[in-house]
Amino acid sequence: MVNKLPTVVQYVCLRCKGVLRKQRNRLVCGQCGASWDVKGSVPCFVKDAPYWGELPQEEMRTLINDAKKGYWKDALKTIPQEKREEIISCCSDETRGWWRYLLPGKDKGKVLDIGAGLGAITFSLANAGYEVVAIDSVIERATFLAIRRDQDRIRSVQTACASALELPFPEQSFDIVIMNGVLEWLGLSETSISPDKVQKRALQNIFNVLKPDGILYIAIENRISAIYFLGFKDPHSGLRFATLMPRKMADWYSRLRRRGGYKTYIYSKFGYQKMLQEAGFKEITFFLPLPSYRNFQVIVPMGRSKIAKYCFTHIWNMKRLRFLKMMVHFLKFLPIGFFLDYFAPDYSILAKK
Ligand SMILES: C[S@@+](CC[C@H](N)C(=O)[O-])C[C@H]1O[C@@H](n2cnc3c(N)ncnc32)[C@H](O)[C@@H]1O
Ligand SMILES: [Zn+2]
Repeated sequence: MVNKLPTVVQYVCLRCKGVLRKQRNRLVCGQCGASWDVKGSVPCFVKDAPYWGELPQEEMRTLINDAKKGYWKDALKTIPQEKREEIISCCSDETRGWWRYLLPGKDKGKVLDIGAGLGAITFSLANAGYEVVAIDSVIERATFLAIRRDQDRIRSVQTACASALELPFPEQSFDIVIMNGVLEWLGLSETSISPDKVQKRALQNIFNVLKPDGILYIAIENRISAIYFLGFKDPHSGLRFATLMPRKMADWYSRLRRRGGYKTYIYSKFGYQKMLQEAGFKEITFFLPLPSYRNFQVIVPMGRSKIAKYCFTHIWNMKRLRFLKMMVHFLKFLPIGFFLDYFAPDYSILAKK
């Protein structure tokens, strides 16, 4: 029996790149015979990925069971109140995908959202007319995406449990690839080599699946953000000053604090630029999402001080942003362009193939 999965892009074999066809509950390679499980409507190309989630694994599984029994949005109502707002935002905040207005051209193409999480960006882009392949290495997250997609009858979203380190897609398949808060976590997916090598491998994979002139969108923290100098914790390792240390020292410090090795590498603007150039990307443009890439209200083109000043004036008028206001006050005495370029909290990056 052959039955169909939503197909934006055909899956190919991770071993030989042969086309995969669905046979009962497996995807089977027509060339070498290798096969992968399909659980429900989710093809699974990953085994034993470390769990990642805003909810603990057991709570996430309960959420999935509730969503399967009823409607996914109703299931969200059962989440403990202190976490509910964040989860709803990760699922449904359309504005998380509004960086798409930075993209050149008007054509709505094929998108690969890597580490799609609970789906805010995937469904924001799908609602805007893009065709989206959403992958996540955590089966619970990929399953949740599929439940949403199926219950809302959205045909332009394809989901799979797959890793950035092994992409089951043909070369030159996508117009856009997204990694929103994902590149920094990849070092945890493959611990036998150093995190920077893992990240480089993923960028190489992405380069290969992008069409000529395709665009990679990355949103991520800045290793030398001003806030880390001020003693704020790195949100990935949970350690103060770790991002600023040489990697070996950070690794040693992280072990000393009983958090395992330091694997969640983030970089400075130069670091990202170098890494992307080494992966083959040509035009690399940096933007400043404020107050952060997760919940930006504005995205400022870097180095254009007029626009930067305009946005800072806006922040000045916002409520509940006292820390940023203090920073702005401080910043008035520094050349704003220079400061933003190097010490911004986060970057949004467009890299063209
Ligand atoms: C910080 S969350 C970001 C989720 C989503 N992009 C967003 O912006 O809401 C990081 C996501 O990356 C996923 N992830 C981690 N390692 C991955 C890998 N090797 N391949 C694919 N996804 C991965 C995690 O499961 C998690 O969903
Ligand atoms: Zn094969």
